[in-house]
Amino acid sequence: YVLGVDLGTSAVKVSAIDKTGTIKAQQSYDYPLSQPKPGYSEQNPEDWVMGTTVAIVRLILNDGIAAADIDGISYSGQMHGLVLLDANNQVLRPAILWNDTRTTKQCEEISAKMGDDFIEITKNKSLEGFTLPKLLWVKENEPETFAKAATFLLPKDYVRYRMTGKLGMDYSDASGTVLEDVMNHEWSTRICKMFDIPESICPPLMDSIDYVGNITPNYAEFSGLDTHTKVFAGGADNACGAVGAGILHPNMVLSSIGTSGVVLKYEEDPSIDYKGTLQFENHAIPNAYYSMGVTLAAGYSLNWFKKTFAKDTDFSAFVASANESPVGANGLLFTPYIVGERAPYANADIRGSFVGIDGTQTRSDFVRSVLEGIVFSFRDILDLFEQNGSQFDTVVSIGGGAKSPLWLQIQADIFNVDVVSLINEQGPGLGAAMLAAVGLGWFDTVQDCAAQFVHFGTVYHPIEKNVAKYKELHKIYQTIYPSTKELS
Ligand code: XUL
Repeated sequence: YVLGVDLGTSAVKVSAIDKTGTIKAQQSYDYPLSQPKPGYSEQNPEDWVMGTTVAIVRLILNDGIAAADIDGISYSGQMHGLVLLDANNQVLRPAILWNDTRTTKQCEEISAKMGDDFIEITKNKSLEGFTLPKLLWVKENEPETFAKAATFLLPKDYVRYRMTGKLGMDYSDASGTVLEDVMNHEWSTRICKMFDIPESICPPLMDSIDYVGNITPNYAEFSGLDTHTKVFAGGADNACGAVGAGILHPNMVLSSIGTSGVVLKYEEDPSIDYKGTLQFENHAIPNAYYSMGVTLAAGYSLNWFKKTFAKDTDFSAFVASANESPVGANGLLFTPYIVGERAPYANADIRGSFVGIDGTQTRSDFVRSVLEGIVFSFRDILDLFEQNGSQFDTVVSIGGGAKSPLWLQIQADIFNVDVVSLINEQGPGLGAAMLAAVGLGWFDTVQDCAAQFVHFGTVYHPIEKNVAKYKELHKIYQTIYPSTKELS
């Protein structure tokens, strides 16, 4: 077996997968999130280690996954979270997570000091969630802690360190720190110097499929694992999610509708310049990249609508009720900016709208307009790919959007490309396990592994007359943001 450790924000999920790509067993364990002040979001790294260990112990004891049969382990991790270690590799303070927003001042300082040069090196704008502004916050607000820092890591790197005794970070996660020179695959000496960050705290960089070490005797005793088990670096959750969904060719885009929505495109050429309008990261595959836009309230918009106006309806019946409404929801348009937006507009203050309300409309029209509005927002992100010369011909849909045939068809019609779902969707844990499978040499490349592990389902083709109607509606949709941005 290989184990894929999916270290999320609310829980860790560990999957045991065999050589055919079949999930043999899965265990998960929740841990708390602490919000000591508004905008703060922290976790105790020890909880990640404990949660991962409990899940592994249960796989071995409850599910009969023999330690002797576990050949490799790899990881998918929540991105950007800052873990600071002292010279003895002891954790110095709680980890500051990706969804912590205390660093607005540091982000402003970064862009004031470096302007477009920063985007040229890191391929990203500095946003509150990213790691460099968190380092600067600690330096400014907790100088004694910063002075003791000998290494910084990201969440899954810390768990890997505790299992192997080896410090390191893979490129896919390093690019989310905005301290990496993304094209050259190295820490940016210029950025370190500019912000007075000792380069010595940056850990060694590696590829996601690289072998890091074996399970230490100590951790073997603690977890029931065996010291023959090899550990591979792993990657950022979005990169691993893309691997697990087969986003491994330049023509492929991922459309993921969770609480937030992610539109992610495989990129071969790092010289493509989105000027910071999209995130641009190293992929979990050597010398590949991905670009990504996040719609903050995707599934969240639909859940909000249901909670507010259809509380007692069964969820799938609620979504299916949109079938009663035609393409364009009888003239109703929805923009999903109900908690602000990240892409295509980075604007925390913008709010959502229903436009075109008519006395004849029903609740089904509202449900349909919410489904359509989320997909229009994704379409805006696809427009950014296309406007910058990036081509694609297949969208893989995962999450809520993949559970409804109607929503899959709406995506095909609004995107005007083929949309496909996965037969046995497993998320980033599968991607992590695939990295271990390739690291072990079960397959030559991640693409070869995907041919065995990732299975596509029904293809939804765009329907011409719907495409034409949605093109017109999208033009109107795009006028809503500029007309409402002053309202907030
Ligand atoms: C990506 C981001 C989130 C986290 C969630 O930039 O902030 O998707 O990776 O774990």
